Formats: sequence, C-alpha cells, structure tokens
Amino acid sequence: MLSFYKEKIAVWSWYDFPKVSSTNDTIKEFSTKEKPVVVSAIEQTGGRGRRGRKWEPIAGNLYFTYSLEIPLSELSRYVCLIGLSLAKTIQGYTKNQEIKIKWPNDVFFAGKKITGILLEKIQGDIWAVGIGVNIVDSPKLSNLLYEATSLKEEGIITDRVDFLHRYLEQFKKDLSEYKEKGFGPLKDEWQALALNIGQQISIKNETLTKTGIFLKLDDNGYLILKTDKGEDRIVAGDLFINKEK
Ligand code: BTN
Repeated sequence: MLSFYKEKIAVWSWYDFPKVSSTNDTIKEFSTKEKPVVVSAIEQTGGRGRRGRKWEPIAGNLYFTYSLEIPLSELSRYVCLIGLSLAKTIQGYTKNQEIKIKWPNDVFFAGKKITGILLEKIQGDIWAVGIGVNIVDSPKLSNLLYEATSLKEEGIITDRVDFLHRYLEQFKKDLSEYKEKGFGPLKDEWQALALNIGQQISIKNETLTKTGIFLKLDDNGYLILKTDKGEDRIVAGDLFINKEK
C-alpha cells in the first residue's frame, strides 16, 4: 500500500493513496490523539455506507476520512455540524438554492443525494469521519435508498482535491464557531437548510420505526418528532417521507 504524504490541510496531515479498501480503515494506522490526519484514496474498493450498506466506487469521486476528537455528549451536534459544513462547501461553488440537508447529515442537491457520511470510533474520543462526495458521477442502481447525483451532473466542474481542501477549511471554520459561540447559530443554519421540517416522516432504525411530524432539531442535535403520544427525541436512524422502505 503506497502512501503519499502531501501537505497539511487546515490542521490535518494529509495522506493520499492510489487504492485502499476503505479510508475509514486505513486512517486507523495513522491517527493518534496528538496527530489529526486525513486519509483519501483515488480508488476505494470496499467503501462502506451507513447500516451496512455499500458505497459504490466511481473513478474521480472523492473518498476521504479525517480524525476528529468528539466528546461523546456532543456527538449528535457534531454529526449535524459535519453535514452542515459539507452543504456549505457545495454552496461555495454555486448560487443554486437547491442544496439541502436530510437529517441527520446527508446532503441533497435538487432532491438527490450527493454526499454520504459515516462516523466510526477509532479509540476513546477520537472518531473517523468518513465522507464520500459524488464529484464526477453518481451510482445509478435500482436498489439505492435515494436517487443520487454528482456535482458534475449539476453543472459544477471541480476535482476531488479542490473539494477536499475547501471542505476541511470550511469545517475548521464551523468548528471554531461552534467552540466559540455554542451550537445555537449552527443549529439555525442547519435548520434553514433542512429538508422535511414540518412534514410527516418515519424514522427507521435496526429495531423500530417511529412516525410523526419532524418539529425541529433540539440543542443536542436530536430530531424532535411529534407523535400521537407526545414529543420524542430521536438520536439515530434513516428518515423516510410518507411510506417506509
Ligand atoms: C452513507 O451515506 O451511507 C455513508 C457513506 C459514507 C461513504 C464514505 S467514502 C469514504 C469513507 N470510507 C468508507 O468506507 N465510507 C466512507
């Protein structure tokens, strides 16, 4: 496995690989608490999505994982923050208003999924934040949960390296704001971009499905769902509109 140390991007030491199985695994060999790293790969053969799904490899798309210290009590806020920074990075390329966030942190462009985020624990408070961005093309499979698109299909021409730099700079900025001012301002930004607030939704996880109205995000980053029995705080799951899948 050949690695190329490139440079520092924001606070992260950047290692780029020609080919790996999953950047979420490769990062475990490099990251320590003292040394934040970002690992990217030109080709990712065993990319994972949330809930055991596969993340399709497409040449030219971006696959990267960065290490991040996240206090457990703030995990849901960070989950939202990471997605917000991704949406803002895409907004930096275009005036198009159709960039939205689907809870908890999928970015959608014109109603189609364009990025995916997978957080996995490395050790202690250190997490692997794995992100896939459809830069040049998107998977066209019949079994996808959501239709997908890419920046190129939406008229934005860029490359994986440019996007990686812009994202990490954006995230660093948003993280500093969070540490300085708290979650409030970022929660407002997140909600302004959120899909489905005020709508009837279903949240499905491994064990159950809950249905109700998506009221808002709370101060912890949890989804507040108004059900027949009152208000529920939802920490994790997949969100569906109307009918479950
Ligand atoms: C999802 O939407 O289900 C999450 C997809 C996350 C994909 C990225 S690509 C880089 C990193 N390495 C992986 O194996 N998965 C994440």
